[in-house]
Amino acid sequence: MKCIYWKKDHIELIDQTKLPAVTQWIKCEDVPTLGEAIKKLSIRGAPALGIAAAMGMALAAAKSQTTDLKQLKAELKETGKYIASTRPTAVNLFWALERIMKIVDSFEGSVDDLKAAIEKETIIITVEDEKMCKAIGDHGATVVKEGWSILTHCNAGFLATGDYGTALGVIRSAHYQGKKIHVYSDETRPLLQGARLTAWELGQDGIPYTLIADNMAGYLMKQGKINMVVTGADRIAANGDTANKIGTYSVAVLAKHHGIPFYIAAPYSTIDLKIKSGEEIVIEERKPEEVRFFQGVQSAPADANVYNPAFDVTPHELITGIITERGIMYPPYTDSLAGMHLTSVNQ
Ligand code: MRU
Repeated sequence: MKCIYWKKDHIELIDQTKLPAVTQWIKCEDVPTLGEAIKKLSIRGAPALGIAAAMGMALAAAKSQTTDLKQLKAELKETGKYIASTRPTAVNLFWALERIMKIVDSFEGSVDDLKAAIEKETIIITVEDEKMCKAIGDHGATVVKEGWSILTHCNAGFLATGDYGTALGVIRSAHYQGKKIHVYSDETRPLLQGARLTAWELGQDGIPYTLIADNMAGYLMKQGKINMVVTGADRIAANGDTANKIGTYSVAVLAKHHGIPFYIAAPYSTIDLKIKSGEEIVIEERKPEEVRFFQGVQSAPADANVYNPAFDVTPHELITGIITERGIMYPPYTDSLAGMHLTSVNQ
């Protein structure tokens, strides 16, 4: 099972807000339905957002009634702007839109050929992501030792990617290689991606895990129960500063204090060399209700003052290595990330 499918005249995606209690699929027959699914996190996770954005462009092209190339290009530009407005932090969404728009802008030919070219690029983006996740998993597994306990935060599994996952890809590869690992999954308040999605994915795969509340990580580290931390990323700046789900920074600080290696796992589509540092990353702020309520049940005064940033930035000094499909990048990241394209994918 994958979290999102391209069906030529519509998109199907699993509604992640309902997991794990209910497995329900959303049929997106138009771009606004997809946009709403992105905004409410029915589809989420940086690489999956890139795939969804590309599929959104392919859907807009497929559904367009125009026979005029100029008109189709104008419509696609508007669709791109709309999809770009749904969530600001994960760079993969913008990366995929740029990739499609590059084709649109330079295209000369018939309307049908442009539609076909966009669909082809969308499929390439999807398949590429699956392959990258597998490669990330295999590279990451090289640093995982037999018997280790690994802490992860949020969900960076198949539900967040084309398949296999990034952080969970590392965990999956280590598990499939027969290393007797154990995973600790932070529940990841406020929206519980760790409890609802990561725990569910690990359970489905038979990977031993223990779910903990976010505020327990430090105590476990102090007790010597964690050997390594690995999380995904939403955007990595040229210097290695990494935006990921809120709470990742706290885990990284804790890991540093306890001398535990802290890794980020992400494909090249998450690396934003256009920005020098994490200072430039736009952090999405979400509705107060997500904090005032716990899974639909009010858990704070209805008028409680709330601050709800969805992501934080972990400074590069706290990151042991960035696991990519081209190998593990080590500090200084300004050099290793800039030179990444020079290494072969299967190195
Ligand atoms: O708000 P979300 O659920 O989209 O946040 C997701 C994360 O922070 C993930 O860790 C990140 O996108 C990496 S997914 C491979």
